[in-house]
Amino acid sequence: MDLFRTKAVAPAPHVDAGEPVEGDLKGEATLRRVLTARHLVLLGIGAIIGAGIFVMTGQAAANHAGPAVVISFLLAGTACAYAGLCYAEFAAMIPVSGSAYSYTYATLGEAVAWFVGWSLVLEYLFAASAVAVGWSAYTISLLESIAQMFGAEWEFPAAFASAPVTYANGTFQATGSLFNLPAVLIVCAVGTLCYVGIRQSATANAIIVAVKVSVILALIGFASQYVDVANWEPFIPEHEGGDRFGWPGVLRAASIVFFAYIGFDAISTAAQEAKNPQRDMPIGILASLVICTILYVVVAAVLTGIMPYDMLNTAKPVATALEPYPTLAWLKFAVEIGAVAGLTSVILVMMMGQPRIFFAMSRDGLLPPLFGKVHPKFRTPHKATIIVALVAAVLGAFFPLGVLGDLVSMGTLLAFATVSAGIFVLRRTRPDLPRPFRVPAVWLVSPLGVFCCLALIGFMGWYNWLLLAGWTVIGFVIYFSYGVRHSALNTPK
Ligand code: ALA
Repeated sequence: MDLFRTKAVAPAPHVDAGEPVEGDLKGEATLRRVLTARHLVLLGIGAIIGAGIFVMTGQAAANHAGPAVVISFLLAGTACAYAGLCYAEFAAMIPVSGSAYSYTYATLGEAVAWFVGWSLVLEYLFAASAVAVGWSAYTISLLESIAQMFGAEWEFPAAFASAPVTYANGTFQATGSLFNLPAVLIVCAVGTLCYVGIRQSATANAIIVAVKVSVILALIGFASQYVDVANWEPFIPEHEGGDRFGWPGVLRAASIVFFAYIGFDAISTAAQEAKNPQRDMPIGILASLVICTILYVVVAAVLTGIMPYDMLNTAKPVATALEPYPTLAWLKFAVEIGAVAGLTSVILVMMMGQPRIFFAMSRDGLLPPLFGKVHPKFRTPHKATIIVALVAAVLGAFFPLGVLGDLVSMGTLLAFATVSAGIFVLRRTRPDLPRPFRVPAVWLVSPLGVFCCLALIGFMGWYNWLLLAGWTVIGFVIYFSYGVRHSALNTPK
């Protein structure tokens, strides 16, 4: 049993003729190549802009960084840029749907690939549930505001508004609620869309992205006129001990707002459905990352400029910052709509990504064949999509946001660090492979990517480490009881 056996990488044929790279044997249905560079950039923005900017910025500024949350966004964005460059090289070179899992299988071996694939479940499946919980809170608040506008005293039934427990101050407490109904409904609706087709999913995503980016541009354009530069003084508030303010606070805030960047890598799970992945994957990954970094930095500056940072610690900091400005009441309403839209597309892209990673793992024999089935008409990994939607709905119904969100960032950072290391390994082991995109100064970018991601993991609490260790143990139990015995690499050629 060789745990470090690697899956051979064949140079990918040029596939812009619309033909699938693999899976076209045995007369089976395959994924459909329909996505263009524009779709991919929009998918990236769809996955990136969400709870990170609409929910977490306020907490990061109020408790950790003050106006210097702008620097935190730049630091987290830089770590992602290193990882993003490595993803771009891999995705153009190995355009398959398994993303970091497939890249690791080609470089660091099967056991590490399984570990990365299993960590990606934390990123995609848990992120879909976590963001669905955030979506529920924003949607309930939006519905109640609309009811108020029409003079109705309507409140969403508390029994179905949240998970039955919440996690605060180290203990779980009952909320009095039964389960989170809106979170279940949005996961089911998005799951249906993902089942029906990648093109439909991409079109719905494009519309949603147009709404949320317009709202963010309107926020920047209109709210920036009210910036009072006195609010930016002191830019880095004095250190109060621990991770409250000063540079330790700025770094802690960077590990929090890292969540805001998660998702650019989700584009790579659509590589098998891109028309010209060699050219368009790097464009999709890098362009969406650059666009979102610019938007985040400017929004963070505007928010801390229009309201003192210590007042931003709410569940809806972007809407909160606009409250003192009656002339911007319409913008506050638009922001709430933009946030609901934004969170919807994050759920959508995450729920598109997860089944495609399972699909790749199943085709490699590490998961049962069920996960690798493609719908004969819709050409989507439909069975994996149903399983992902069911699990995401249960998690969203019964778990609070904090518990889910903690795990998401850690799983993602592990995947990013492994991809950054893997690119260096493959340059050594397979220098011959055609690389349509090459990471510049790979000897510097690759170690910096690993270092920055591990450093951000270092700022996570011990509690997250425990959860991650438990998750990894479960993963290896599954691998040793199923994957290692069914691996496609076991069959002698
Ligand atoms: N980046 C995504 C968000 O902020 C996960 O919601």
